[in-house]
Amino acid sequence: MVKLSPSILSADFGNLERDILRLEKEGVTYVHIDVMDGNFVPNISIGIPVIESIRSKTKMIFDVHLMIDKPERYVVQFAKAGADIINIHLEATNEVRGTLEKIKSLGKLAGITIKPDTKVEDVLEYLEIVDLVLVMTVEPGFGGQKLMDKGLEKIKILKKYIEENKLSVEVEVDGGVNLSNIKKVLDTGVDVIVAGSAIFENDEIEKNIKEFYKNV
Ligand code: DX5
Ligand code: ZN
Repeated sequence: MVKLSPSILSADFGNLERDILRLEKEGVTYVHIDVMDGNFVPNISIGIPVIESIRSKTKMIFDVHLMIDKPERYVVQFAKAGADIINIHLEATNEVRGTLEKIKSLGKLAGITIKPDTKVEDVLEYLEIVDLVLVMTVEPGFGGQKLMDKGLEKIKILKKYIEENKLSVEVEVDGGVNLSNIKKVLDTGVDVIVAGSAIFENDEIEKNIKEFYKNV
């Protein structure tokens, strides 16, 4: 079954521990953590100290999405802080392969992420070394945006390529997924769905998660 990775970008940061425990109580196993540097994307969110602080609160898998320039500068710190999956953007560095290899050498799962305007062909050469491809269906930087269909086409191509080449790589979708478009998202064969606003909406985390699982 498809996995849900709720994005805590939409959580109540004043009650972050509480919100994370609410996710875990509903049986969620992944939690998506959006890190922004105000440079690669026009927004600033959370970073290493927050990840360190929440690490001791939960056993959920930390799916860390680095929206930062030159992520090679920080992967060691994110690994130490408790990230389980470290996703770097293809567009953020000239050292894509080296950075992915570094993540793997730290004993973490490595993810490569692409923005909506990046061609899917550009990630194929990294599929041999990554554990996950994160496909953005919105411009990174903000929650609550509308899903762009062009990302869904890329997921279909990736899933086919992964199957044909017998690779062990998960595909994850990020941006604008909600109950009104979940069907076409699932039709792509995607493995992991990130959802921020749809899960934290109206502070009805439990209800929103139950609705999500009813629809997948
Ligand atoms: C956007 C982030 C997303 C975002 C998703 O830059 O990468 O993870 O939190 O939020 P929704 O589901 O509201 O689009
Ligand atoms: Zn994200």
